[in-house]
Amino acid sequence: MIRKAVFPAAGLGTRFLPATKASPKEMLPLVDKPLIQYAVEEARNCGIEELLIITGKQKRAIEDHFDSAYELEDALTKKGKKELLEMVRKLNHINFAYIRQRAPLGLGHAILCAKPFVKVEPFAVLLSDDVIDPENSLLADMISIAARKQAPVVALESVAAEDVEKYGIIEGEAGADGVYRIKRLVEKPKPSEAPSRLGIIGRYILTPDIFDILETLPAGKGGEVQLTDALNRLAGLRPVYGYLFNGKRYDAGDKLGFLRATVELALKDKVLSAGFREFLVGLMKDEFSSLHSRP
Ligand code: UTP
Repeated sequence: MIRKAVFPAAGLGTRFLPATKASPKEMLPLVDKPLIQYAVEEARNCGIEELLIITGKQKRAIEDHFDSAYELEDALTKKGKKELLEMVRKLNHINFAYIRQRAPLGLGHAILCAKPFVKVEPFAVLLSDDVIDPENSLLADMISIAARKQAPVVALESVAAEDVEKYGIIEGEAGADGVYRIKRLVEKPKPSEAPSRLGIIGRYILTPDIFDILETLPAGKGGEVQLTDALNRLAGLRPVYGYLFNGKRYDAGDKLGFLRATVELALKDKVLSAGFREFLVGLMKDEFSSLHSRP
């Protein structure tokens, strides 16, 4: 059973500048919910109740989002806006711990900051810019694989050849159960050097022995302490597994991925979908006719 989840949120979000200059990337909203809330709900849907956010500079808004908001709640109460009040209040009832990463020294370093919280048990890591469509059960599937194998599990996705440079890529073989036994991991390889097209996406079930490795791991690609490098060392010491995810994931830390996620999730929103669909169809018609009326 996994009881603890870690949400690293101390990165600089450079792919989304200028929006992320003074506001956390994790607070960018998809339809009406910030990215980090999707990840938090995903963990809680798996029964995980001990949550740690790794924060950094300019990240105050994350703490405020999950804190009580007296003035707002009071105003909503007085106006009798029960549904909105409920929506706001349910966020205050989640218990969070926060640890500050003193500088964005890399995802591996951010995970190492979680050591005093995690202590000695396996734990989940969720990167909130990777948004998993809430209809999927990726994290729950990974938790049951980790329990069965008694080993760490990373989520994988089959990525396009030209995109391997954006991911940690694994070398491994699928077992009879379809789960990959990982031999080696490489952070952001050149397409010519990639051992496969299986890229790591932002969901991990880790074991506390990762901390021993992270404590002595030198900085890797981009001068950052890379979680992929730590997992590569770990794979030399014990079995590490990969679970190939075939459902919908959005890279909402990237502008194009964010736009895709916004459109698809808005189309699934009960209240917004009809009006939004009508708008999109009209837009496509205009695009189409202007394409055909060009000389
Ligand atoms: P990313 O590389 O996707 O996020 O890191 P980033 O560094 O914020 O964004 P870009 O690449 O500059 O646009 C994956 C996750 O790890 C966290 C980020 O907040 C994100 O959730 N992270 C990264 C940390 O917490 N600390 C770090 O030092 C680096």
